[in-house]
Amino acid sequence: MQAKSSSKGFRPPSAEAFPAYPASWYLFCASGQLKDKPFSQRILGRQLVAYRKASGQVSVMDANCAHLGADLGCGTVVGDTLQCPFHNWRYGADGVCTSIPHAAQIPAFARLRTYPVVEQHGSVFFFNGPEPLFALPFFFGADPGDFAAGRAFRYVADCPWYMTAANAFDMQHFRCVHGRELIDRCQVDCPAPFARRNRYRAAIVGGSRSDGFLRTFAGPTVDVSITCWGGTYMLVTALNLMVRRWLTYEFVADESRNLLGIQYNPATLIEGDGTMADFFGWLAHLPAHRQNVLQQEVSVPARIAQAANFG
Ligand code: FES
Ligand SMILES: [Fe+2]
Repeated sequence: MQAKSSSKGFRPPSAEAFPAYPASWYLFCASGQLKDKPFSQRILGRQLVAYRKASGQVSVMDANCAHLGADLGCGTVVGDTLQCPFHNWRYGADGVCTSIPHAAQIPAFARLRTYPVVEQHGSVFFFNGPEPLFALPFFFGADPGDFAAGRAFRYVADCPWYMTAANAFDMQHFRCVHGRELIDRCQVDCPAPFARRNRYRAAIVGGSRSDGFLRTFAGPTVDVSITCWGGTYMLVTALNLMVRRWLTYEFVADESRNLLGIQYNPATLIEGDGTMADFFGWLAHLPAHRQNVLQQEVSVPARIAQAANFG
């Protein structure tokens, strides 16, 4: 049976409805990668560069020089500015060119798009938009200053970004993939604008060694909350931090290895996919940051209002 879907009575969106790069927070690099040199990489379909000013603050901006497009990641940090390696134009942390050798005037086009930055727990995060629509997320009721970062792990998922995000709302796969049997219905809400949360209690029914360990360590059930911010940033609560980190890695790394080729198709969702279908509807209303435009031209108010209120 095809999903009508969901409690809200709307149908899952088409794949084209999802923003290519949601306006949200993204991890750019480790703080330790920014010492006296800039660092650039291709991310979100564009080349971006980060550098640390002499004063210590980090700036993230488009990496291709406004002159002839050289990658500023190959440039030099000079005081609070970043100098292009080609003809030595210099840019301030606001992306505006501050000096051009042997030129009396700086042309108006000599500026680069910049991004809001937060450096926290040894990582540099940037917001994909001219202004952050929400603060860098953290656990509700907790102070980031009370925490230290664990060692980062990474995995590669061969699927659209929204399929990874939707994992947290795919109630069928918790049983099939993760050995978790839902107890009662999950509770889904939007605790803040641009945040969607899934809370559930599950019995640990899997037969893996880690499941056996968990049953001994934590008992037969586990309470979990997963909050997705802006479509790209997930926060998980369950058990204590060490065990949670290990389990989260086990879950996502295992899935990324074994679930190759998954695709989104709104026509093949069934009634049991209702929670996930609702989530897809929420994702499709998230605002996107338009590419190849300067800050003044970016406008997302309608989508912002929708995503903020979509419950
Ligand atoms: S390309 Fe950067 S200054 Fe010419
Ligand atoms: Fe999963």
